[in-house]
Amino acid sequence: MSDITTRKADHLAITASGAGAFTRSALLEHVHLIHNALPELDAASINLATSFLGRTIAAPLMITGMTGGTEEAGGINKQLAAIAQQMQIPFGLGSMRAMVVRPETAATYQVRDVAPKAFVLGNFGIVQLAQMQTPQIKQALDLVGADALCIHLNPAQELAQPNGDRDFRGGLDTIKRLRQELSLPLLVKETGCGIAPDLAAALDATGVDAIDVSGAGGTSWIAVEAQRSNPETQEHSVGQDFWDWGIPTAAAVAWASQKNLKARLVASGGIRTGLDAARALALGAHVVGVAQPVLRALKEGGPPAALARLEGLKAGIVAACVLTASKTPSALYQAPRVISGELAQWLAQPPSPPKTP
Ligand code: FNR
Repeated sequence: MSDITTRKADHLAITASGAGAFTRSALLEHVHLIHNALPELDAASINLATSFLGRTIAAPLMITGMTGGTEEAGGINKQLAAIAQQMQIPFGLGSMRAMVVRPETAATYQVRDVAPKAFVLGNFGIVQLAQMQTPQIKQALDLVGADALCIHLNPAQELAQPNGDRDFRGGLDTIKRLRQELSLPLLVKETGCGIAPDLAAALDATGVDAIDVSGAGGTSWIAVEAQRSNPETQEHSVGQDFWDWGIPTAAAVAWASQKNLKARLVASGGIRTGLDAARALALGAHVVGVAQPVLRALKEGGPPAALARLEGLKAGIVAACVLTASKTPSALYQAPRVISGELAQWLAQPPSPPKTP
């Protein structure tokens, strides 16, 4: 197996098994939505339809980008895209770097044969995009029939990865350039370490259409890399020390929502139940994203299990709406709640620039 094939296979195995998880939580358990014993609502009337990147999606839910580049990854992409089409929710391809470096892997990102109508997001890392010309990016997106581009930010993972990227300059300028030169909707996301509120505002000012804070509490890419690196390397040391690095998803989404962004706000990172999803929506997310739980269900029980996992999340959002007398998912933002413990501490101390001495 080539290096990249081994790396992808390791990533899928480590994340799906749950071994690549944060040891800290996303802090969503500290959002206590207040129960309404007499909701005066018909559960069947709760409409989860949400507008997102110029479309109407059937629920405020998406499968975030995971994979591509190997045969196994290609099968996963097809199966998940077909489920996304069936559920009318967006589906993210994993980083398309592999297909640029090795064009023969392009087929592993092709899902249009099984999901011609799915809402598909292409995916590249910011460092890669900084080095690519816009026509090359367009060509790759056209090849997979992408409806939008997802730009991922992952500096922590890179630092914990042997031979990872080390030069992160020019990122914001790249996003500005792509905003001007690409007509597709743009979503900027982290990959599990969160996006701080000032950065969310700076990204919003570039005119991107959506921001996924992808915070800490679910899959930890630093943890994944820590388990792959040679224990004698500096990267391994960084991986061990920064295993739990990041802004918990609940804090990241609440902070970003206070910035009144024009962009749609996505919360991913540690969304594991429908109640988690409802709590993230209550904190200001318009859509929630899941990666690892869908991958795990797919590996354990095939497409029916992955579909059931996503339908379970949807059912939980409906239940939370009914039990808080919220007619729509967006009404959850107004639902009464108590914020406890560590999340209350995070929200009481929004980050501010260091004071000059
Ligand atoms: C990911 N994630 C990811 N994100 C991205 O933008 N491009 C990518 O190529 C990948 N690759 C990838 C592979 C696998 C196997 C997983 C599980 C995840 C990150 C993902 O989209 C998401 O931001 C985080 O995983 C947090 O969500 P969960 O896993 O806690 O639900």
